This record gives sequence, C-alpha cells and structure tokens, in this order.
Amino acid sequence: MASLFFSPSSVLASFLTFALLSGVSFAADPFVSYDYKVSYITASPLGVPQQVIAVNEKFPGPLLNATTNFNVVVNVFNLLDEPLLMTWSGIQMRRNSWQDGVLGTNCPLPPRWNFTYQFQVKDQIGSFYYAPSLNFQRASGGFGPIVINNRDVIPIPFPQPDGELFFMIGDWYTQDHKELRRALDSGKELGMPDGVLINGKGPFKYNSSVPDGIDYLTAHVEPGKTYRIRVHNVGISTSLNFRIQNHNLLLVETDGHYTAQTNFTDFDIHVGQSYSFLVTMDQNATSDYYIVASARFVNETVWQRVTGVGILHYSNSKGPASGPLPVPKTDVSTPWSAMSQPKYIRQNTSASGARPNPQGSFHYGQINITNTYILQSLPPTTINGSLRATLNGISFVNPSTPVRLADLHKVKGAYKLDFPDKPFGRPPRLDRSIINATYKGFIQVVFQNNDTKMQSFHVDGYTFFVVAMDFGIWTEDKKGSYNNYDAISRSTIEVYPGGWTAVLISLDNVGVWNIRVENLDRWYLGQETYMRIINPEENGKTEMDPPDNVLYCGALKNLQKEQHHSAATSVSNGHWKLMFSMLMALLASVFIFC
Ligand SMILES: *[C@@H]1O[C@H](CO)[C@@H](O)[C@H](O)[C@H]1NC(C)=O
Ligand SMILES: *[C@@H]1O[C@H](CO)[C@@H](O)[C@H](O)[C@H]1NC(C)=O
Ligand SMILES: *[C@@H]1O[C@H](CO)[C@@H](O)[C@H](O)[C@H]1NC(C)=O
Ligand SMILES: *[C@@H]1O[C@H](CO)[C@@H](O)[C@H](O)[C@H]1NC(C)=O
Ligand SMILES: *[C@@H]1O[C@H](CO)[C@@H](O)[C@H](O)[C@H]1NC(C)=O
Ligand SMILES: *[C@@H]1O[C@H](CO)[C@@H](O)[C@H](O)[C@H]1NC(C)=O
Ligand SMILES: *[C@@H]1O[C@H](CO)[C@@H](O)[C@H](O)[C@H]1NC(C)=O
Ligand SMILES: *[C@@H]1O[C@H](CO)[C@@H](O)[C@H](O)[C@H]1NC(C)=O
Ligand SMILES: *[C@@H]1O[C@H](CO)[C@@H](O)[C@H](O)[C@H]1NC(C)=O
Ligand SMILES: *[C@@H]1O[C@H](CO)[C@@H](O)[C@H](O)[C@H]1NC(C)=O
Ligand SMILES: *[C@@H]1O[C@H](CO)[C@@H](O)[C@H](O)[C@H]1NC(C)=O
Repeated sequence: MASLFFSPSSVLASFLTFALLSGVSFAADPFVSYDYKVSYITASPLGVPQQVIAVNEKFPGPLLNATTNFNVVVNVFNLLDEPLLMTWSGIQMRRNSWQDGVLGTNCPLPPRWNFTYQFQVKDQIGSFYYAPSLNFQRASGGFGPIVINNRDVIPIPFPQPDGELFFMIGDWYTQDHKELRRALDSGKELGMPDGVLINGKGPFKYNSSVPDGIDYLTAHVEPGKTYRIRVHNVGISTSLNFRIQNHNLLLVETDGHYTAQTNFTDFDIHVGQSYSFLVTMDQNATSDYYIVASARFVNETVWQRVTGVGILHYSNSKGPASGPLPVPKTDVSTPWSAMSQPKYIRQNTSASGARPNPQGSFHYGQINITNTYILQSLPPTTINGSLRATLNGISFVNPSTPVRLADLHKVKGAYKLDFPDKPFGRPPRLDRSIINATYKGFIQVVFQNNDTKMQSFHVDGYTFFVVAMDFGIWTEDKKGSYNNYDAISRSTIEVYPGGWTAVLISLDNVGVWNIRVENLDRWYLGQETYMRIINPEENGKTEMDPPDNVLYCGALKNLQKEQHHSAATSVSNGHWKLMFSMLMALLASVFIFC
C-alpha cells in the first residue's frame, strides 16, 4: 500500500477502547479517533519561506481514514493566533449540523482551545477532505484528505487496486492568508496566483522558468500495477487541469459516488471537488513521467506559472522526465467543447455505493419538484464602502449566535428566514438572510453565474443530482433537457461564467446547512447562505441534541465555561495521554483475545 505522506500513527485509540469506555455494545458501529494539532510551520513550497498551516506538523494534514458507518472522533487543538473551525467537506453529518464546522452552526474555537468533533459517516463511501472554514485560512493550508472505505460486505465496482495515491492540488500564493485577507479587505482582487502546489510541494524544474532548489513531489509506483489516485482541488480559486504524461485516467468516483467508468487523458477539477481515478502503470519507464495540474478557464498563455508539476517514478525507471509538459487534449476554447467533459460524469446506476442496493435505485427523476431556488452570483461590488460578493443581491453576514443554538435558547433576531428564492434585481445589501426550506421537500436549485469567473458551489449536509448545465439564462422550459436517469450525485459543482447549473436535492436531513461558493475570495466576501430544515413534527427525535461540549458565543457567551487551555502543550498532560492510550491498547488487546 503506497501511501505518499501519511502515517497511521496519528490514530490514538481504536474503536474497541471507545466501545469499552462508553459502554456501547459490540454490534455498535466502530470508532476511529484522531488528535489534530493545527499550528503554523514555516515552509518554502515555491522557494520563498512563508508561514503555512499544518496539522500535526504536516502540510497537507494527515489522512482521516474511516469505513462506512464508522464514528469519527477528532479532537482539534487550535494552536493558531486566531479562531478556527474545521469543516468536513462532503461528510453528510446526518441530523447533526452541530459538527459541521462553519459559522452558521458552530461557535469559533478561540486560539489555544480544543474542540472534539464527533460524527458518524453514515451511509457514505468515497473521497472527501477537511479544511479550515474561517478567515481565509485554507489559503495557508490546514487541509487533508478523508477516505471512507466500503464495508467488506459491499463490493467496489472495479478490481481492488494495488495501491492508493493522494494528490491535494491547489493554486497558491507566496503571501499567507492574512496578507491575502488584507488585500481583499482593501478592495483589491487577488490577481494571478504564484503557482500550484501538489501535496504542499512546488514544481519539478521542467524548464528554466522554474527556480532552482524547489522540493517537488515524487510518486513511487511499480510497473504493471493499478493505483487508485484520489485528487482534491483544495486551492483558492483556480480550476485545474490534472494529467499524468502517457497515462490514462479512468474516472471511477467523485464526491462519494461511483461514476460510469470513462478514460480521460486529462481532467478539469474545480475548486472544492474530489475525484478518484484508476491509473495503470502500463508504460515502459523509458523515463519518469510528469504529473501536471495547470490553470484552466483563464488565459493560459498568461497564467503559465500557475502550473504544478510532480514526478511519477516507476521502480524500473530508466531516467528523469524531460522535454515539454504534456498539453491538455480536451479543448476549452469554445463554450460547446468546454462543457463536454462534465457531461461524461454520470452515475454508475448499477454499482452499490455505501449500501447493497444499487446507486440508481433512488428514482429522483420521477419525483415532483416542490420548490425552485435560483441563486445568482454577480461580480463583487461595493456595499457600504467595502468590496462584497452577493448571491441574489445578499452578501451574507454570519450570525454572531449560530442558528440552531439561537433557536434552542430562544435568541431573537440572530438571523432572518427571508432569503429570496430568485434574484429580484434589488440593490445589493449585507444581511443575515437564510433559506426557510421545507423538510421532505424535493427542491431544484439553479446556480446562475453572472460573474466573469468559473465558480464552484457546495452544499453541506447533502449530495445533489446534477441534472443539467448550460450557457445563458436558465428558464423553466430547460427542465425538458434534464438528465432524469443517471445524473451524478455529488456535493460540489462547477458553474461556468455566463452559464447555469441545475441540481435536485431531496431535503431529508434536518439541520442548518451551508450553501457556499468554494472560490475562497468570493466566499470570504459573503457569497454564501444557509438552508434551515426543521421537521415540524420534531418531538425532539429527528435532529440530534447539541453535543455536551458545544461552544457558546454571541448572545449566549455567558453560558460558555472558560477552557483550561494548556492541554495541547502541557508535558504532564502528554504523559497522561500516553499512559491512557497504552492502557486502552492493553484493554483492547485483552478484548481481542477473549
Ligand atoms: C485505511 O484503514 C484500513 C483499515 O484500517 C486499511 O486497510 C487501509 O489500508 C487504510 N487506508 C489507507 C489509505 O491508509
Ligand atoms: C479538549 O481535549 C481534552 C483532552 O486533551 C478533552 O478531554 C476535552 O474533551 C477536549 N475539549 C473539548 C471541548 O472537546
Ligand atoms: C482505459 O484505458 C486503459 C489503458 O490505459 C485500458 O486498459 C482500459 O481498458 C480503458 N478502460 C476503459 C473503460 O475504457
Ligand atoms: C514496451 O516495450 C515492448 C517491448 O519492447 C513493446 O512491445 C511495447 O509496445 C512497448 N510499450 C510501450 C507503451 O511503449
Ligand atoms: C491571452 O493573453 C495574451 C497576452 O496578453 C493575448 O495576446 C491573447 O489574446 C489572450 N488570449 C485570449 C484568448 O484572451
Ligand atoms: C516552459 O514550459 C512552458 C510550458 O510547457 C512553456 O510554455 C514555456 O515557454 C517554457 N519556458 C521556457 C523558458 O522554456
Ligand atoms: C458499473 O458498476 C458495475 C459493478 O456494479 C461494473 O461491473 C460496471 O463495469 C460499471 N459500469 C461502468 C460503465 O462503469
Ligand atoms: C406529480 O405531479 C403530478 C401533476 O401535478 C401528479 O399527477 C402526480 O401524481 C405527482 N406525482 C407524485 C409522485 O407525487
Ligand atoms: C450599511 O450600514 C448601515 C449601518 O451599519 C446599515 O444600517 C445599512 O443597512 C447598511 N447598508 C447596506 C446596503 O447594507
Ligand atoms: C417557514 O416555512 C414554513 C413552511 O415550511 C412556514 O410554516 C413558516 O411560516 C415559514 N417561516 C417563515 C419565517 O417564513
Ligand atoms: C449577466 O447578465 C446580463 C443580463 O442578463 C447579461 O447581459 C450578461 O451577459 C451576463 N454576464 C455574464 C458574465 O453572465
């Protein structure tokens, strides 16, 4: 099993220890637990030393590895000098928006405090990632991959790969998140990034335009073997074309659903998206091969430096990679050809996902739509003297008290349920408006991108069916063109500038769920909102209660107890923790052998 940079040693306790501790029965779902210490380290990915955000001193952070229905416990220690929330992109948090790690549902974790997230990865499989959600921090790192494996009893729709590789790709600036934030706060656009990182590393020196001395990624592989390659665009705002010289990428999964398997020579991955490809090492290793992630849907002649280059090294390689980088074969110069690739991303309806029944057994195309929301993004504009970005004319201001906490404690006026269901062309404004969505509704959301850049939109707590995308303005009659049979179900979708994407969502997950643009600059400037979905016949059963460790802030800050916050660094505590782990491991082994 070739894992590029992760060590399983970050797993502190096995599920058995938890089962013992909490008296959960054997039949209960297993636990995995991690400690994540989020701190600054210095790194020079593009040859310039800068402060980056690491998890357990690693940049990118370690793999979070679980299996369908596992309970995941992550104790996050905030060793930064500013508040932190970790969000688990694509994890559905069934009935449990308390763990989602965004400001509408969680109070920010102050510096030097820790917070233990606990959630179940119920009925999920696939490739996801975690990342900090506040203050532009993702632009400095703090992200890492999440894998949810199939249970043994559920077959995967392809032969078991010989190994797995992870690539976290993303555009990158040599300025850190604070400097980038200051630029946005002063009304500037960020401009062209300084490069693209692959797993926190800069480009291999493929020609003289790359400075000397940059540490690049080398992926070690064996000839003849097939690897599952999981690729996540965790960047700031640039869509990237991913390709491996002379190798086909067989698309098999995206955002937790198996796709119809299709070969690509190169593949466009938009900000916030995750994909799995099978890649067979079927070349003669006459040399190493380039792994490339280059800027897309921008003027590529001007954006040449926005290119990440790593090396695929066969164990029998006869020499280094050389010569020009491979160029993307897919043409995006005309609107028609640009949108051809997403049309190939369809569900494999016969494959089992997390459950034994086929993915296609939910016949979404036969359900009547109960509500339509058209969410229009416009280019950033000045509101009250600051640069802001809007959705339907509203630039979102986070409530100082998270929505469901405000509900439970009857805090009035924390937010408004008046988010407009279409753009009304009113003057842009700042507001706390969220969507009053109906539990068990089956809604259509049309993302209409009237901005000038490619955007991707994400919905927390759900996956949605991507039934259509096109250029121009969406109208009611476009429903006739929807894919009602094998549309992919996913959680992050691209919306072309001057175009729209329509998705269908079955509102079966109670809670408060973030809808956001993943392009970090636009998100920072307010292009997001939430859906509040409450079961009117609640009786306290449908939604989970807030966890015991819930943090309070805003109107409820008096309920928050002070944290004894030397926990992360104290030596005695570390000893105690080590002893505790050893004791637990002992108990666990006793348990296994009896
Ligand atoms: C994840 O954990 C499973 C079971 O513990 C293990 O078999 C697998 O190799 C791990 N995956 C990775 C990518 O480390
Ligand atoms: C902080 O970490 C300690 C262990 O070091 C743990 O006992 C405690 O529950 C954590 N605090 C929160 C709020 O999760
Ligand atoms: C994909 O390409 C590989 C060669 O790289 C080939 O062996 C395989 O059959 C192709 N699969 C499909 C589904 O086209
Ligand atoms: C690899 O080498 C073998 C034998 O020399 C040849 O038959 C085959 O076509 C080569 N394959 C590639 C991909 O170059
Ligand atoms: C890209 O930029 C170059 C240099 O500024 C310019 O000559 C070219 O016309 C641009 N291409 C497109 C498609 O806008
Ligand atoms: C470096 O490579 C890029 C992409 O292959 C190419 O466009 C550029 O002209 C090359 N620059 C130099 C200085 O060779
Ligand atoms: C769909 O999944 C099945 C396994 O359930 C697999 O045999 C088949 O090849 C897949 N089809 C495509 C087009 O990917
Ligand atoms: C959908 O709506 C049509 C017409 O309004 C109605 O006849 C049909 O029964 C509805 N179907 C379902 C599944 O509710
Ligand atoms: C501008 O700020 C003032 C004072 O904070 C507020 O009352 C007003 O609604 C804001 N205007 C807009 C367009 O958001
Ligand atoms: C929210 O929607 C429900 C129906 O789903 C309605 O009863 C309620 O009045 C709405 N609340 C507001 C504030 O509009
Ligand atoms: C934005 O919308 C206006 C009015 O419908 C249209 O004329 C313009 O072309 C659109 N621009 C983009 C980038 O979508």
